[in-house]
Amino acid sequence: MDKTADHSAQRNTGFYKRLKTHFKGIRLNVLLKDYTSLRIGGPAKYFYEAGAPADFVRILKFAKKYKIKYFILGGGTNILFSDKEFDGLVVRFLGTGIIFRGACVNAEAGANLQTVIAASIKAGLKGLEGLAGIPGTIGGAIRGNAGTVEAEIGDSVISAKIFDSRSGCVKTFKRPALNFRYRTSLLKKNKKLILLSVVLKLCKAKNPAALAAKLRENAARRSLTQPKGQSAGCIFMNPQRKINGRTMSAGELIDKAGLKGARINSAEISRVHANFFLNTGRATSRDMLALINLAKKKVYEKFKIRLKEEIEIVK
Ligand code: EPU
Repeated sequence: MDKTADHSAQRNTGFYKRLKTHFKGIRLNVLLKDYTSLRIGGPAKYFYEAGAPADFVRILKFAKKYKIKYFILGGGTNILFSDKEFDGLVVRFLGTGIIFRGACVNAEAGANLQTVIAASIKAGLKGLEGLAGIPGTIGGAIRGNAGTVEAEIGDSVISAKIFDSRSGCVKTFKRPALNFRYRTSLLKKNKKLILLSVVLKLCKAKNPAALAAKLRENAARRSLTQPKGQSAGCIFMNPQRKINGRTMSAGELIDKAGLKGARINSAEISRVHANFFLNTGRATSRDMLALINLAKKKVYEKFKIRLKEEIEIVK
């Protein structure tokens, strides 16, 4: 037998025993497809859902101590997992606390973004309506600076409480240090930094009834322009480069490359919005990756623009 493999198996068995002793809820071989909006993903070797921030931090320290690869999963709405086993630990943080202080809201990373928006509107606070309809958790939204044509969540951030897995410390970062840019942030660039909670600055609405109406209007527009099936939202970021004096969205580029409705097995480029790739049944990560590469290739051939993925691809 290969000595390295044998050694690693022994180490992992020891790790699992300790893991089970310290974390009762640990599960083995959990199918990641059940935790993603694309419904794609093989089993995670170890899977844990932490309810409290202290428990979340504790398991991350544990994984570091035993040198086990880990991955933090939020709402699973912006991710493409491999069909193969994730040979490590997948952790979800289930902390969903939302606390209002004046015109600020403090939300834990596991809180659902739309729940935070609805609660803010109920509290008569304005500022998040532009993010109506974006699925997933606050954690995922902050990390990827989720947004629409109207707003980006980074614009509302005051500070974020972050666990730094290199130092093992929890620190508060103010907005400038979080380096929000179009669909990215310090947290996306540095995987060692893990969001625990965030403080968002909103403002008192002069007309609270109008906020709910605005939210409905945004959601209605979204449901007209975006497909309903199993997807991960927009696959690519919008390129910033201009063609004939104007920028074209990734959706428009893929559309103009003639790819609406293109399929690889059960993976399909939406006919409603070409930057949405659907799992129409039993699509695998291979099918989806092949479709992503096809879109990149055709858009490059036609426009000489290299599309960059917005979703996270875990191989
Ligand atoms: N368009 C086409 N063909 C298509 C799709 C779009 O010609 O198949 C054209 C539209 O007609 C429009 C332009 O492209 O003129 C932009 O389209 P849209 O208004 O749908 O916005 P988008 O840039 O494609 C962005 C965000 C979405 C967000 C919407 C709504 C990105 C990558 N996407 O889409 O976010 O919901 O604005 O504001 O920034 C996501 O991040 O996952 C996401 C879905």
